Amino acid sequence: MLRPMRPLPGLPLPSAFTLVPYLYRPFPFLEAMAKRYPDVFTMRFPANPKPAVVFHHPDAAKEIFALGPDDAHAGQVNAVLGPILGKASLLLLDGKEHLRQRKLLMPPLHGERMSSYGARMIALTEASIAGWPARERFPVHERLQAITLDVILRVVFGIGEGELFHRLRERLVEILELATNPIFLVPLFQRDLGPLTRWNSLVRALHEADEMLYAEIRRRRTSGERGDDILSLLLDARDEAGEPMSDGELRDELMTLLVAGHETTATALSWGLRWILASKSLVARLVRELETEGALPDLAPERIARCALLDATARETLRLQPVVPMVGRLLQRPMRIGGHDLEAGTPALVSIYLIHRRPDLYPDPTRFDPDRFLRQRFAPHEWLPFGGGIRRCIGMAFALYEMKMILATILARAELRLPLFGKVHEVRRGVTIAPSRGMPLVMERRGSSRVHEQEDRS
Ligand code: HEM
Repeated sequence: MLRPMRPLPGLPLPSAFTLVPYLYRPFPFLEAMAKRYPDVFTMRFPANPKPAVVFHHPDAAKEIFALGPDDAHAGQVNAVLGPILGKASLLLLDGKEHLRQRKLLMPPLHGERMSSYGARMIALTEASIAGWPARERFPVHERLQAITLDVILRVVFGIGEGELFHRLRERLVEILELATNPIFLVPLFQRDLGPLTRWNSLVRALHEADEMLYAEIRRRRTSGERGDDILSLLLDARDEAGEPMSDGELRDELMTLLVAGHETTATALSWGLRWILASKSLVARLVRELETEGALPDLAPERIARCALLDATARETLRLQPVVPMVGRLLQRPMRIGGHDLEAGTPALVSIYLIHRRPDLYPDPTRFDPDRFLRQRFAPHEWLPFGGGIRRCIGMAFALYEMKMILATILARAELRLPLFGKVHEVRRGVTIAPSRGMPLVMERRGSSRVHEQEDRS
C-alpha cells in the first residue's frame, strides 16, 4: 500500500535546477530522487506552473493508466513534439478525436498484417550485416536505425525503392538526427534564430519532407494506387460521418509513426545487443533455441516469433533499459492518486525507469536476467516500457515482433562481441535514452555465433 504523504515531497528548487540533470543525466537524477522520496516526488518543468508529480509505485501507475479520455490528457504533455509531428498527430490529440484516430491506426500494426512484415525485416537486416566491417570497432546504433527506418518506410508508406524513397529517406534521417537534440524538448529553444542554427535546419528539412509527403498523398489519392501499407489503409478510412482524413491529418499521422516507431526500436535493439553480448551463455542459449524451434538456418519468421527466451530477452531489455523513461498525463479534474489529492491541471507522471528497478518487483533489479520473464508474468503496471491505458503505444506488438526478427537475424548471421575497452552509458537522444557512442561493437566474422559457453561480462 502507498503511504499517504502531505505535502508532496520534492526539491524546493526552480525548474532549471531539476530540468538540466533530468535532460542530461536522467537515470542518476531519477535514482537520487527515488532514494530520497520513496514512491512519489514532485519536480518543476518550465512550461507548467504546477509542479509535476512523479509516481514510481506500480499501484499509482495502475490508477493513472485506468483514467478515461476526459479525466486526463496526454496530448498536452506531448505538445512539445508539435512542431515536428503536427497538431493532428495521435500523440498530441486528446479525448474523442484521439480515440477515433487510434482506431484507424491500430489494425495494420497487429495480427496477421504485422506478421507479413517479418520476411522483409529479416531481409533488410541481412543486407545491413553484409556491409558491417569485420574485426574492427563500429557503432551499431546507426546501422540499426537504418534498418528500422527502412522497415517503417515500407510499412507506413509502402515504399522501399525508387527516387522518392531515397530523397525522402535522406530528409527524414536529417530530421530525426536534428530532433534528437535534448535542448529541443524545451519550447523556449524551438526558435528560428537564423540560417546557421539547428532549429532553422530542422524547419527547412521538415518543409522539404512535407512537400514530398503531400505530393505522394495526392498522387496515391488521385491514382487510386493501394498496397498493404498504412497510408493505403488511411486513404480509404472514413469516420462516423463518412468523411476521409484530410491531407494534413494524413501527413501528421505518417510523421508520427515514423518518429515514434523508428528511433525507439533502434535504441531498444542497441541496448539488447549490449546486454546479450555481455553473456556468452545467453548468446549460446538463444542460438540453441533458434535451432530447436527450427528457425535456423532459414530464419522463418513464424518460428522466430515462437522463441520464448528471445521474447523474454526483448522484454528484459526494455525493463532494464526503458527507451522512454517516463510518461505523463495532465489531470483534467481534481482527483486522488496514490493516496494524494491532486488539483486539475497537475501533470501526473509515471516513472517507467524507477518502477522497472524496484527490488520488490524485480529482485536484483540491475541484473540482466531474461529468465525472470520465463518464470513470471508481470502486470501491465509492473512492466510498462510502452506506457499504458488508452495511450499505450500502438506499436507495442509491432516493436516486440521487430526486435525478435532483427535480433534473431543478427545472432544467426554475425558473430559479434563487445569491444574490450569503453563501457557505454546512457545518453539522451530527444525523448529516448540510448547507449553512448552509438553502441560500439566488433564483428568477428559473418555467420552464426558459435555455440560455446565462456565466462560472462557485464
Ligand atoms: C521499442 C520500441 C518502442 C517503445 C519503447 C515505445 C514506447 C512508447 C511509449 C512509452 C509511448 C507513450 C505511451 C503512454 O503515454 O502511455 C508510446 C506511444 C506511441 N507509440 Fe510507441 N514505442 C515503440 C515503438 C513504436 C512503434 C514501432 C510505433 C509505430 C509504428 C509506435 C507508435 C506510437 C504511437 C503512435 C504512440 C502514441 C499513442 C497514443 O498517444 O495513443 N511506437 N510509445
